[in-house]
Amino acid sequence: MKRGYFISFEGVDGCGKGTQIEKLKAYFEEKKADVLYTREPGGNVVAEKIRTILHDPENEINDTAEMLLYAAARALVTETIIEPALESGKIVVCDRFIDSSVTFQGYGRGLGADLVLSVNKIATRGLMPDLTILLDLDGAAGLARNQGIEGKLDRMEMEGEWLQNKVRAGYLELAENDPERFLVIDATKTREEIFEIIKAEIEKRGVIEC
Ligand code: TMP
Repeated sequence: MKRGYFISFEGVDGCGKGTQIEKLKAYFEEKKADVLYTREPGGNVVAEKIRTILHDPENEINDTAEMLLYAAARALVTETIIEPALESGKIVVCDRFIDSSVTFQGYGRGLGADLVLSVNKIATRGLMPDLTILLDLDGAAGLARNQGIEGKLDRMEMEGEWLQNKVRAGYLELAENDPERFLVIDATKTREEIFEIIKAEIEKRGVIEC
């Protein structure tokens, strides 16, 4: 059986991934594509518990433990959800994957991109997305959007603009080093404009029969 296709969405908090994933879902439904949607951290019972621990602002977690918890959640979801779906020929759409750790923990927390990447390659056994859609946005703009929508910030968001801007710079560096995998989109464009770019890329890459 032909292996499926792995798409990840990335960006600073508040970049609009959720909206674009919903639009992509509607598009794939119309095309009757076989798609699995998952999110990180989460997507599996234990990984969702790790998500709750990581997001709770009351929890004091040092940077190394934080990186390892994200990697542990990723190891679970990769083995139990993503790999089997790809092997059965499905398209997998993941809200964040390995690049979130490299940017948030590697660049944002300052653990270093190389260290975080090597730990995560153990967790994913080398699995990387085929296409990564990066919604590029200024950190402050993302936080302002999220505060407006949710009214409550999680542990990473509470660190504020400085962390999100380091994360943004990290994403742009990763994208520059891997232009084949990354599609970088200016997230200040309208939702419709952004989705048109995503749709065109999916069609260009032949992800489904169009
Ligand atoms: P989101 O599900 O709303 O995108 O939020 C997830 C938060 O967790 C976001 O602040 C980014 C952060 N995060 C990391 O710091 N490292 C990771 O590896 C992942 C997947 C998420």
